[in-house]
Amino acid sequence: MIGNRIGVAIENAMLQEQYIKSEEKYRTLFDSDPNPIFILDAQNCRILDINQRALDSYGYSREEMLALSFLELGGGDEELAQALRTLSLDKSLLLTKRKHYRKGRRPFFVNINISDAKYGESEVVIASTTDITESVEKETQLIQASKLTTLGQMAAGIAHEINQPLNVIQVCADFFLKMIDRGQPISEEDLKSMAGDIGRNVQRAAAIIQHMRDFARQSGATRSKIDISDPIRDVFKVLGHQLRVHEVELVLELDPNLPPILADHNRLEQVFINLVTNAVDAMDEKRGWPEYDHVEKLLKIRSFLENGFVAVTVSDTGIGMSDEVLAKLFEPFFTTKDIGKGTGLGVCISYGIVKDYDGSIEIESKVGEGTTFKLSFPAARPTEEE
Ligand SMILES: Nc1ncnc2c1ncn2[C@@H]1O[C@H](COP(=O)(O)OP(=O)(O)O)[C@@H](O)[C@H]1O
Ligand SMILES: [Mg+2]
Repeated sequence: MIGNRIGVAIENAMLQEQYIKSEEKYRTLFDSDPNPIFILDAQNCRILDINQRALDSYGYSREEMLALSFLELGGGDEELAQALRTLSLDKSLLLTKRKHYRKGRRPFFVNINISDAKYGESEVVIASTTDITESVEKETQLIQASKLTTLGQMAAGIAHEINQPLNVIQVCADFFLKMIDRGQPISEEDLKSMAGDIGRNVQRAAAIIQHMRDFARQSGATRSKIDISDPIRDVFKVLGHQLRVHEVELVLELDPNLPPILADHNRLEQVFINLVTNAVDAMDEKRGWPEYDHVEKLLKIRSFLENGFVAVTVSDTGIGMSDEVLAKLFEPFFTTKDIGKGTGLGVCISYGIVKDYDGSIEIESKVGEGTTFKLSFPAARPTEEE
């Protein structure tokens, strides 16, 4: 009898010890995970527990961290807040390339994995973050390098766009000098109309230069609500002349009532510049074929709403793509163009940018007939106050 009771007590003590040991084991695993891990209150996202790595990475003390909400680390990321609200039990979700802040508001980029779980009696969210700053920076540099290449290729067209307003101004100046040389008075009406011309053309040249500056600026990996028609229209501020020189007819059918999408204007403009220059190249190449003596060069861009997605198609009447080309299209440095003309980065970089905004690319192409690139992006969800 007594021996039995002692036996139970010993067993209990051993179990307790095991339990404490397994607690320690999990704590050690938790603390030695290479990524920061956060246990959050599912109701309000308050931080309930963190591992050592989270403290090291974010630079807060344990007390400071426990007084924060997970959302504060992301500086009010509305999309994350929405994802956390709608997360259901036993589901996990990956949010990529989010900006987080270390103590002192020092920003860095992370992927965030969140999942719902039970922690004792209460419902919690487990979030872990992976620092991806280095790869985001590399990618930004690559995008910037490709953008500068594009700018270099467009330089002749841009120079032409600026030359035209300069010509108008020169004509006005010549007229004034001629009249003064001849000792003839210039009527007030002429003066007024020419001053108007000069002003308008200075503005036009200034607008082109301003736009080049905006485009050349390095754009970040952040996103905001934009109307997809804006970057499409801006493409032709710099490529308009190129289309005229290459005798390309442009048809723009842009739906004025599209919902906004979450993206970056500058980067999307780069995507459309890549698609448009490829289309022009493909149509030029077709003109070189003897059997296509009088082909029409038609570039058509449409934007529309489709199943809740904002879609854009860019269609050309160019040479089209064979299955071999299609299979390699997205590979970096794949090009069928001559050295110096193609870099083979346009489609690859565009794909990366589109993916960043949760978009997709579909391609339809027929050799000898033409190609259509279709991009789709999820419409931005209205924020609380809308
Ligand atoms: N609209 C198009 N029509 C036909 N071929 C295309 C089209 N867009 C892309 N391609 C093919 O895909 C290749 C890769 O395009 P891209 O990545 O922009 O590099 P690059 O234009 O520098 O060659 C092109 O060389 C071309 O063969
Ligand atoms: Mg290209």
